[in-house]
Amino acid sequence: MQLVRLDRPVPGAEPADDVVNLVFLANLAAQETTGDTASSTSVERVQHRLRGSTEYDTHAFALVAPDEDPAGYLLLSTPLLEDLQVADAEIILDAAHLPLPGTAFEPEGRAVLGQLYDAAETQAARLGRSLVQTWLLHGADEAPGTGDWADLLRARGYELGLAEIQGVVEIGGEPTWPADVRVDIVRDLRFPSGLVKGVLALYHRASVDVPHGGLHADPVDWTTARLAAAAERVRTTRREVVSVVLSDATGPVGISEITRFPGSEPGIAEQGITMIAPSARGHGYGLELKKAALQAAAAELGATRVYTSNAADNLWMIDINRRLGWRVISGGSGWQKVLDT
Ligand SMILES: CC(C)(COP(=O)(O)OP(=O)(O)OC[C@H]1O[C@@H](n2cnc3c(N)ncnc32)[C@H](O)[C@@H]1OP(=O)(O)O)[C@@H](O)C(=O)NCCC(=O)NCCS
Repeated sequence: MQLVRLDRPVPGAEPADDVVNLVFLANLAAQETTGDTASSTSVERVQHRLRGSTEYDTHAFALVAPDEDPAGYLLLSTPLLEDLQVADAEIILDAAHLPLPGTAFEPEGRAVLGQLYDAAETQAARLGRSLVQTWLLHGADEAPGTGDWADLLRARGYELGLAEIQGVVEIGGEPTWPADVRVDIVRDLRFPSGLVKGVLALYHRASVDVPHGGLHADPVDWTTARLAAAAERVRTTRREVVSVVLSDATGPVGISEITRFPGSEPGIAEQGITMIAPSARGHGYGLELKKAALQAAAAELGATRVYTSNAADNLWMIDINRRLGWRVISGGSGWQKVLDT
C-alpha cells in the first residue's frame, strides 16, 4: 500500500472525493461510538482545516492499494506559533477495518493502522517535530486507556496524557448576577476596545489553566494582532461565535464562548473556553457564565444543543456541567509519543 498526499483544497472548487469520503468515515466512526448523529464534522470544516492558517498547517494523506478505495487517511496538523515540537495526528480508518464495538482489530486493520501511525511519525519527524499527539474517541462507559486501539498505541510508545469527558447541554435557565458585575455579549470576536486587554489576559491564562495533563501545550501569547487575525478567520471560515464577558470593577474576570460551525446540523453548536480569573473564582460565576453563554448562543446562533468537553479531572467544570444537566455521550483520550531524534 502507498501513502498518497492529498492536494490542498482550491477555494471555490468542489471538494475532492477523498475529503468527502474521509468526513463520511470520521462521522460514521464517531456516531457509532457516541450514538449521537449530531456529533459530527463537516466537509466545509475539514476543507478549512486543510487550507491551513497562520496558526497551524495541515497535511493530508490517503493510504491506498492499487484499484481499491483508500484503507485509511492521516491528517497531520502542525501548530505554527507555539508547540513547535508537536504534530497532531488524526487517523481515519475505512469502515471495513473498524472493529465492532468491544471487539479487537482484524490483522488487516491492525496492519493498516500500523502503516498510518508509521506515516504520522515519519512525516512529523520530516517536519522537524519531535512529539506526536493523537486522540481516541470512546464510549462514555469505557475507561480511557483500555481496549485494543489503546494497547496498540501503548505498544508503539505512546503514553496516555489526558482523559476527557464529552457531553451535550440543552439551553437552560437564566443566570443571576450580583449588582456589581457587568455582562457583555460579543459577536465573532469583535470585542469593544475597552474589553480587549482583559480578554487577552483571560485567553492567555486559559492556555495555562485549562488542564492538559501530560500533553505538551505551551502558554499562548495573545496580542491584539493575533485577536484581529482570529476574528478575520472567524469571518473567512463562516463560523459564528458568541462570547460572554464578565467584568467587575477591575475589568474582565470571566469569559465563555460558543461557536456554530458551517455545515453542522441546525441548532447544534460547540462550547469553547470558559475561564474565570483566579481572583474571581469561588463565587459560582462559572456556572452563571455558562448559563449566560447558552442563552446567548440560543438568541444569537439559534442553538438548541451545545456540545462540550472537559478534562476528566476538571472537577470544577464537571460540577458546573452536571448542574447544567449535561448528558455524557463519549470519552476521549489524548496520547503523546516522543520521537527518537
Ligand atoms: C472551571 C472554572 C471556570 C470554575 O470557576 P468558579 O466558577 O470560580 O468555580 P466555583 O465558584 O464553583 O468554585 C468552587 C470552589 O472551587 C475552587 N476552584 C474553582 N476553580 C478552581 C481551580 N481551577 N483550581 C483550584 N480551585 C478552584 C473555588 O475557589 C471554590 O472554592 P471555595 O468553595 O473554597 O471558595 C475555573 O476553575 C476556571 O476558570 N478554571 C480554569 C479554566 C478551565 O479549566 N476551564 C474549563 C475548561 S473545559
